[in-house]
Amino acid sequence: MAEVESLCDIVIFGGHGDLAFRKLMPALYHLSNNGYLNKESRIITATRVSMSNEAHCDLVKVKLEEFLEEGAFDEEKFNYFKEQLHVVIIDFGDNQSYKGLSTLLGNYPQRDRINYLSTAPDFFGSICQSLSKWELISPKSRVVLEKPIGRDLDSSRVINVEVLKYFEESQIYRIDHYLGKDTVQNIMALRFSNRFFMPLWDANNIDHVQITVAESVGVEGRWGYYDDYGAMRDMIQNHLMQLLCLVAMEPPCSLEADSVRDEKVKVLRSLKMMTPADIQQKTVRAQYSQGSIDGKPVPGYREGVGVEESTTETFAALRVDINNWRWNGVPFYLRSGKRMRTRNSEIVIQFKTIPHSIFANEGRCISENKLVISLQPKESIQLKLMNKIPGLSEEMRLQQVELELNTPLNMSHKPTAYERLFLDVIRANPTLFMRLDEVEAAWKWADVILDAWAENQVPMKSYSAGTDGPTAGIQLIARDGRSWHDE
Ligand code: BG6
Repeated sequence: MAEVESLCDIVIFGGHGDLAFRKLMPALYHLSNNGYLNKESRIITATRVSMSNEAHCDLVKVKLEEFLEEGAFDEEKFNYFKEQLHVVIIDFGDNQSYKGLSTLLGNYPQRDRINYLSTAPDFFGSICQSLSKWELISPKSRVVLEKPIGRDLDSSRVINVEVLKYFEESQIYRIDHYLGKDTVQNIMALRFSNRFFMPLWDANNIDHVQITVAESVGVEGRWGYYDDYGAMRDMIQNHLMQLLCLVAMEPPCSLEADSVRDEKVKVLRSLKMMTPADIQQKTVRAQYSQGSIDGKPVPGYREGVGVEESTTETFAALRVDINNWRWNGVPFYLRSGKRMRTRNSEIVIQFKTIPHSIFANEGRCISENKLVISLQPKESIQLKLMNKIPGLSEEMRLQQVELELNTPLNMSHKPTAYERLFLDVIRANPTLFMRLDEVEAAWKWADVILDAWAENQVPMKSYSAGTDGPTAGIQLIARDGRSWHDE
């Protein structure tokens, strides 16, 4: 068993929503059963649908059976976990409906309180206001905000200003679950604990960086939300930007939350603001049409969303430049899309070729060294190097080989990003959460592109579901004489 953590009460607002059942409850189930959550801690689901504690436990059980990884559900473990489950019925906009929550939390006023807002962001302000009115916010309270926090800089400011009326910035945990992925955290370990990479990590040695997050799934029932947001707001502005920051940032002076976040925000502020001409040349937006995934036909986005004239992009690709000494002239190519051929997320650091090849006369081309950090479906890190093909052939023959940098996992269950992040909130460690200035800097950069797209300055392309995206996505990088890693 792991160390037992301090007592806390966790309130999940929107606790009967898709995210809560798919990700949050499974994460808490594992934390509880692995000894990370004190047995006396309470997990309080706040939901609008009236139901008894017993019916709530039954529902959580059904959902855990559905969403836990295969073989993880265990009757005995669930019986232990369910002792921690409570439900309160709250209409988020109705202050009076918080009475039940107030009574429950009032039993243990000294406990750390974690308020997880997994609702539409429109409710963030009113939930915080009610928590304050009922005097449920103490210095030991924290609030976790799920994305999206707004759909542009202005709307994100409105939400943040509201929440900041009731919570200090140090109590606010803006979640980006990509930062909880083990391999993503490994980027820092790799970069800042190995001398090997230190002198190579700059414009003198790196040709370019690629960040791809491709999903074969579609919008999965979240049409209402997605049609209003699209790939740029749903993925690029947050997840891909955070990955870019971890690759590009300077070494922080320590692992303290603010040291790390200071370095990330510097990267975001160094992003080259795109001009209208840049946006036309360096950004691609596209929507999927009907196609097939794994041999099965799937409808196009517009048929799915039921809005004939929807102009929401389900794919975005961009060339991003960073205006600073380290990265001058090194393009970062970003792309993300739904209904792509395969689920594949990776970061590729492509190093420059050697200055002169003594093997060229042998007709052997030298491939560039690459560091490939795969996030999905498999988590792995590979360094691609050139090596001699063993044997007695007269000419020296080379081949590319892969050095696997993976740590074998001696655990029956690999903790998920949400487990890591929940635990960090419980431990009051905000390092892996986004600070206000990061969110704002990312929006400031993205807004310019989104505005130009909204004015139709970049034509919407189309791609068939089950492909690698539109040809324009391939041309974006091909124009610079480069190609995507998987091509
Ligand atoms: C979420 C997006 O933040 O991340 C979803 O809203 C997306 O649209 C998901 O599918 C991807 O997460 P992961 O961890 O499955 O890559």
